Amino acid sequence: MRIGVLTGGGDCPGLNAVIRAVVRKGVTVYGHEIVGFRHGWRGVMEGETIPLDLDAARGLLPRGGTILGSSRTNPFNAEGGVEQVVATMTDLGIDTLIAIGGEDTLGVAHKLGAHGVRAIGVPKTIDNDLSATEVTFGFDTAVQTATDAIDRLHTTAESHDRVMVVEVMGRHAGWIALHSGLAGGADVILIPELPFDIAEVCAHLQHRSRTGKNFSIVVVAEGAVPAEGTMTLQSGAVDEFGHVQLGGVANRVTDEIKARTGFDTRVTILGHVLRGGTPTAFDRVLATRFGIAAIDAAHAGAADEMVALQAGEIVRVPLIDAVGTLKTVGPELYELAEVFFG
Ligand code: F6P
Repeated sequence: MRIGVLTGGGDCPGLNAVIRAVVRKGVTVYGHEIVGFRHGWRGVMEGETIPLDLDAARGLLPRGGTILGSSRTNPFNAEGGVEQVVATMTDLGIDTLIAIGGEDTLGVAHKLGAHGVRAIGVPKTIDNDLSATEVTFGFDTAVQTATDAIDRLHTTAESHDRVMVVEVMGRHAGWIALHSGLAGGADVILIPELPFDIAEVCAHLQHRSRTGKNFSIVVVAEGAVPAEGTMTLQSGAVDEFGHVQLGGVANRVTDEIKARTGFDTRVTILGHVLRGGTPTAFDRVLATRFGIAAIDAAHAGAADEMVALQAGEIVRVPLIDAVGTLKTVGPELYELAEVFFG
């Protein structure tokens, strides 16, 4: 078989570990040819490839990012884009694609199934917002990176009696904010799932100050939204999948805290730092398990499915189950975190 691999959407640590696993088992156990497509779906549309042989896979396990490159190109958004993908599959004799990506990349893989394109999905995103899998690779590394940053901000906040506001990625899910806030001992955590009232946030910080806590850590998810009528927010540009570019809500929160409380307040936006660097051991293992399951599925002739982690086991689920609805934070974990806001 000739099996194509692409990495789409936001990059994250662990992508190269998936590629390594696909190549190592695909070539040495199954004897297949693995073809890497550059820059996500754009590379498939344009037929831009690199050979993924054993040499190409050497040294990939700890390496962040993706050697294939990525993009947010959507074939369904480009004139003739789907036809280009179908033509590439035929011209290059690709039997199956392994698409490594989040809701957008995997949503395209699912839709292309109706056009005869066979694909297996691997769930990737630091946001951890894909349904049907307990966790995506990239998430653990992002949480650890954010937690390390929050730990560092604790010592400087304590030294200056300051309020430190930290913004983390996660798009419209609060998983990174909640996990890193919990792990980092945050005093306030704002997530998209629970619109916040800035007046209540300030009252809480003032209560902390009155009870002798001279510094506070406020973790804000980039997708956090103020409750109706409580605060204004600017809107960003829109990408090919219709996503508004997020980032900067923490600046507004910081301004409001300063204006309403007079507290010495500083802001740190972690942004793409959470997408970079080497994957944690957990993500290296999960990415490897996903990659092996994906090449096994492709070898078995499966299509329109995604490999997933459920109850600690790697399973295969219909792609549509993963991309239909966003997996967001439930109230239980947030209520647990609230115990420590005092
Ligand atoms: O989906 C991963 C993610 O990092 C989101 O958390 C973030 O909002 C978005 O990608 C940023 O996209 P870009 O790298 O295209 O600016």
